[in-house]
Amino acid sequence: MENELLRLKQEAGEALENVKDAAALEAFRIQFLGRKGGLLTGVMRQLKSVAAEERPRLGQLANDIKQAVEQRFEEIKAQLGASSPKAGSGATDYSLPGRFLPFGKLHPVTQVMEEICSIFEGLGFAVAEGPDVETDYYNFEALNIPPHHPARDMHDTFYVTDSILLRTHTSPMQARIMEKHDPPLRYIAPGKVYRCDSDITHTPMFHQVEGFLVDKDVSFADLKGVLTSFTHKMFERELALRFRPSFFPFTEPSAEVDIACVICGGSGCRVCKRTGWLEILGSGLIDPEVLKMVGYDPDVYSGFAFGLGVERIAMLKYGIDDIRLYYENDLRFLSQF
Ligand code: DAH
Repeated sequence: MENELLRLKQEAGEALENVKDAAALEAFRIQFLGRKGGLLTGVMRQLKSVAAEERPRLGQLANDIKQAVEQRFEEIKAQLGASSPKAGSGATDYSLPGRFLPFGKLHPVTQVMEEICSIFEGLGFAVAEGPDVETDYYNFEALNIPPHHPARDMHDTFYVTDSILLRTHTSPMQARIMEKHDPPLRYIAPGKVYRCDSDITHTPMFHQVEGFLVDKDVSFADLKGVLTSFTHKMFERELALRFRPSFFPFTEPSAEVDIACVICGGSGCRVCKRTGWLEILGSGLIDPEVLKMVGYDPDVYSGFAFGLGVERIAMLKYGIDDIRLYYENDLRFLSQF
């Protein structure tokens, strides 16, 4: 038994040193260490039939040999693993490149919304967010849009109950914030808004950023200054702005703001429908009625407000002509940003 063990030790040692690849290593493992027919395993089994007084010594020897062979086996396995084993050998090839895990990205609308917010934060505006599920009061009444006011027709509202709805714009945040804080204030409120509308320029859910400022002696010139500064930063060039008289129940006077077409620079093209201008937002001086409703004295305070559509800004910035692309979850489109 002892001789057999020593002979096996020698044999296994030589065989191991001749192993050149993973396949040979596996053959070695089966021949010597295999649980069923392995030579070393076989000898160990014979220990049972050895005389009792010899058993501890031989048992110890057998164990030492087995451990030494196993240790060398692992060393060689590690060495072979570092080079490339043949496919199908079952060994791990540590030299192969790792599996590619694609990085996620922020949605282009989120990116543009963050950019808009950071520009206004740079101008001293604080950011506040409000509820998507809004009351009729904040969405309409507090903004000088009483029940049955024709302006409610402009919004295709999703009603939850008679007095609860999905907000149709981010303007309710004007009333919510003014109610809680005293002037002076400068806020922007980004978020989702909902309207029952769907075509190449409308989706039932889209994003707006509301902005407003209230203080003493705020004038239309302040609004112009802030919006000019914003557009120049957003579009990374000094585009001309045009303030076009308009109407919103919560501002007086009101204006829609156009920028010189980002595609043709103002000479007229398909994107600007040959007008040279692109509408980017609605704005105005906050209507005294709105100020009164939150308890401000309109003789002391005045303010301006504006609301812009994030998808629209992103479409202009990146030259996208169909708003629905944002929400089709096509990575070929989304991963370009
Ligand atoms: N809330 C308006 C809308 O969703 C946009 C808007 C226009 C917001 C004028 C304003 C504003 O703050 O002054 O169509």
